[in-house]
Amino acid sequence: MCDAKVLSDVRADLGNCSGEFGVIGEALFLRMFRERPAVQDNFPKYKGQTVDKLKSSGLLSAHGKKVVELLVKLVENADKPALTQMVNDFIALHKKYSIPYDILKATKSEVVATLGEYGMKSGSWGPFLDFFFTAIAY
Ligand code: HEM
Repeated sequence: MCDAKVLSDVRADLGNCSGEFGVIGEALFLRMFRERPAVQDNFPKYKGQTVDKLKSSGLLSAHGKKVVELLVKLVENADKPALTQMVNDFIALHKKYSIPYDILKATKSEVVATLGEYGMKSGSWGPFLDFFFTAIAY
């Protein structure tokens, strides 16, 4: 179960979100690829492409938007039965692409930094992601 204070903080933060989800998602991927270049190789569609090409193709913002939308849904459902299905779907998808669990978990700092850059600064995203990454441990 996610800590109630953590959950109320991240829910309040969603109301302070200062960017469109596609913009935030693209910023998240650019930060991840910059600070952890090997992560890019885990994405068949992005492997070997320059940052400029990724930006101009719009692929990163389209994909990033879905990632941020999922983060929001996780926050909305963290204390509801629906979370179990979401967790299972997440595991199945990322296992299908052979994403190592440790790599997923290690990107927490980039997620926290990017959300903070867009107004979500409660300090509770780290604990929220700890909760989520524990739930999906595989
Ligand atoms: C909190 C972090 C993350 C969230 C919320 C997340 C969420 C998602 C979502 C929603 C999709 C489906 C997108 C779609 O339908 O087009 C997806 C796909 C994918 N994710 Fe993640 N993801 C996260 C982190 C990562 C990381 C760190 C990696 C790699 C190291 C990764 C690798 C992938 C791959 C390879 C796909 C499939 C992309 C494709 O369709 O080509 N994800 N992720």
